[in-house]
Amino acid sequence: MYFRSSVLKKKKSLLDGKVIVLSAAAQGIGRAAAIAFAREGAQVTATDINGEKLKELDGIPGIKTKVVDITNKDQVEALAQEFNHVDVIFNVAGFVHHGSILDCEEADWDFSMNVNVRSMYLMIKAFLPKMLACKSGSIINMSSVASSIKGVVNRCVYSTSKAAVIGLTKSVAADFLEQGIRCNCICPGTVDTPSLRGRIQARPDPEQAYKDFIARQKIGRMCTAEEVAHLCVYLASDESAYVTGAKYIIDGGWSL
Ligand SMILES: NC(=O)c1ccc[n+]([C@@H]2O[C@H](COP(=O)([O-])OP(=O)(O)OC[C@H]3O[C@@H](n4cnc5c(N)ncnc54)[C@H](O)[C@@H]3O)[C@@H](O)[C@H]2O)c1
Repeated sequence: MYFRSSVLKKKKSLLDGKVIVLSAAAQGIGRAAAIAFAREGAQVTATDINGEKLKELDGIPGIKTKVVDITNKDQVEALAQEFNHVDVIFNVAGFVHHGSILDCEEADWDFSMNVNVRSMYLMIKAFLPKMLACKSGSIINMSSVASSIKGVVNRCVYSTSKAAVIGLTKSVAADFLEQGIRCNCICPGTVDTPSLRGRIQARPDPEQAYKDFIARQKIGRMCTAEEVAHLCVYLASDESAYVTGAKYIIDGGWSL
């Protein structure tokens, strides 16, 4: 049988040699993304504020870990200083405050906006000049369906902050499109992660809270962190070269 040699050539991994920095990599979606990036050949710097949990990634080929508080400007700038060249930054860190506007004190508001939005401002500002110098880069921000996409009960400041992430994403995409920078965001529905499990446990009736979370899933189950990681790999890779300013909904049809 005759095969063209190009057909027989080993397929390159999607992220071969790409330098990727991400936050909130110790657990949940960030951890799954770090592992998926490395599996596709990237050189990953996985950061988190939780040094103990982050250690669980040590030893995985392609992953370097570093403790960084993403809300701390000095730490974020020091992190950026360590790189001459970065292909992808993935801003994952986020905090879910439970409650309506009446349950949200000023301190809650400031905390959520700081972790969920200001951290992305700090990261993008610190890393973008390095991307601009190479006229190339992909920035991925973690938003949510609970944002400008869907009104969700008891997610007031969270949804406000995640809507801001969509605005930030589109703004960066528009400002730097011609300089080779892409910026996209991911909007998951309900993803089965340790923090989601924690939030369920913190409800007065955890069993009922779990049933309620499942009941709102049109597909009948929650999303897995690995399913979100597939999308992260796509947005980090050159396969998404024509995609910028987009918000990718991955919610099993919740927002339909
Ligand atoms: N899980 C879901 O259902 C869901 C749905 C939509 C969007 N999201 C978003 O996805 C992102 C990840 O969520 P998850 O549930 O996978 O993660 P998670 O909440 O399980 O983990 C978050 C990680 O962020 C780290 N972190 C917190 N504050 C930090 C800081 N100041 N600096 C650095 N790291 C910090 C924590 O240590 C933790 O490891 C968040 O932005 C979240 O809002 C999650």
